[in-house]
Amino acid sequence: MSLNLKPETLARIDEVITHYRVKRSATLPLLHLVQEDQGYISSRGGRVDRRPARAPAYQRAGVVTFYPMFRQQPIGRRHVKICRTLSCALNGGYKVCEHFEKEFGTHVGHSSADGEVHLEFVECLASCGSGPVVMIDDDLHENVDTAKAAALAAQLKAEAAQRR
Ligand code: FES
Repeated sequence: MSLNLKPETLARIDEVITHYRVKRSATLPLLHLVQEDQGYISSRGGRVDRRPARAPAYQRAGVVTFYPMFRQQPIGRRHVKICRTLSCALNGGYKVCEHFEKEFGTHVGHSSADGEVHLEFVECLASCGSGPVVMIDDDLHENVDTAKAAALAAQLKAEAAQRR
């Protein structure tokens, strides 16, 4: 069954595979590419159709369930990751999270009702001196207090409204 991966993802998969003498060793980077394309790894998503890097199903399932960075369910369109490790937690990371929860009417670990935003606690984002740190999709935001969280939430809402 096809995963309907984008042509550019399939091209990247073909390229990545060339770096591995043992094709099965490409499982981890290929799963990253599938998740980047689809937003999560579905039960059949661990299989990269038509590609020779297939690991046995039990191994793919083991990788997907072992690493917390792999999602097995679809999430909101925008992914808001709030660092909860010590430096960020001590500087107000939990308060920032509560602020986002109120703004989007959801709880950490869940998506907003309109599917626009998914909130998640993550561990250290390697910017401990400038916490609390929030990552929205691939963009890092430092020194996020509740005022900055409000501005970020307003920006996310404005971008969502533009798409409608
Ligand atoms: S503790 Fe938050 S970035 Fe390191």
